[in-house]
Amino acid sequence: MLDQLKRAAADALAELAAVDAEAELAAWRSRHLGKKSPIKTLLGGLGALDATERPQAGREANLAQRRLQAAFDERRAALERAAHEASLGAEALDVTLPGRLPRRGRLHVSTLILRRIAAVWAEMGFQVYRSRDVETDEYNFQLLNFPPFHPAREMQDTFFTTEPDVILRTHTSPGQIHVMRERCPEPIRVILPGMCYRYEQITARSEIQFNQVEGLAVGPGIRMSDLKGTLTDFARRMFGPDTRTRFRCSHFPFTEPSAEMDIECFLCGGDGCRVCKRAGWLEILGCGMVHPVVLENGGYDPGRYSGFAFGMGPERIAMLRHEIQDIRLFWGNDMRFLEQF
Ligand code: PHE
Repeated sequence: MLDQLKRAAADALAELAAVDAEAELAAWRSRHLGKKSPIKTLLGGLGALDATERPQAGREANLAQRRLQAAFDERRAALERAAHEASLGAEALDVTLPGRLPRRGRLHVSTLILRRIAAVWAEMGFQVYRSRDVETDEYNFQLLNFPPFHPAREMQDTFFTTEPDVILRTHTSPGQIHVMRERCPEPIRVILPGMCYRYEQITARSEIQFNQVEGLAVGPGIRMSDLKGTLTDFARRMFGPDTRTRFRCSHFPFTEPSAEMDIECFLCGGDGCRVCKRAGWLEILGCGMVHPVVLENGGYDPGRYSGFAFGMGPERIAMLRHEIQDIRLFWGNDMRFLEQF
């Protein structure tokens, strides 16, 4: 019995020395430390032994069992160590490499100019009113005094949707109706910034999407001189205190009278240059006194209230400011362009 035990243990240890993979190690363990191991089997036969031999045999068996367990633990640790060493060699990480700087983002040039415009209007007491990008024909045109088939619609090539009468707004002016209907009969002083969409051929001078900043003031006794004074004040805050402005007659169905405002060219001071195309003046915005029909559509009694409105294009202003020659650059996602601002 003792000899058998010694042999079983020696065999097991020899086998273990040859094990060099984790799967083999697990197999060895169940073979030599499991319930049906040779040593356990021998232990099972202990009862058949002579009572004088039994205690020693039992001790020896337990000893052998413990030795195998210790050998197993050691072998497993050695294999793990070897695997770790191998992975350190194979998946070497060079911690001496300098780190890579993450690329920092920045605000888009349109966002910058929108924020600047909003800040100037905020100084003058105008709140920002957010209005939707998707509109109905009614809000985009009819309530603004463009009846169906009115020729003024031609200037605003429109994106229609598959829903009847649902369109992408072609200007921010429909927001005028929303804000009036919400605030009536309170006086109003708001700007309405946001993206507009027109179904146009994309060229260096026209895009299918662009921002506008609309403005609206409604209250008792607002006059054309208020419009001129307020917009001139804006121009001076925006472009410099000596900026001169001029108003030219124009037409919009939702304002009467209507005008366009020019500022004296900030590059040449009115002498004429490539930015103002020798005119000395730059067209900045459209404006006018809110048409009585529009006031009424907003819920205000045109006999008691009046107001002015204006609309400007921030991308246009940015193009003049930075001498950007091509409007497609704004949405072209070219980092070389975007990183300049
Ligand atoms: N909505 C006009 C346009 O897109 C601009 C405008 C706004 C004119 C408000 C007058 C008053 O051309």
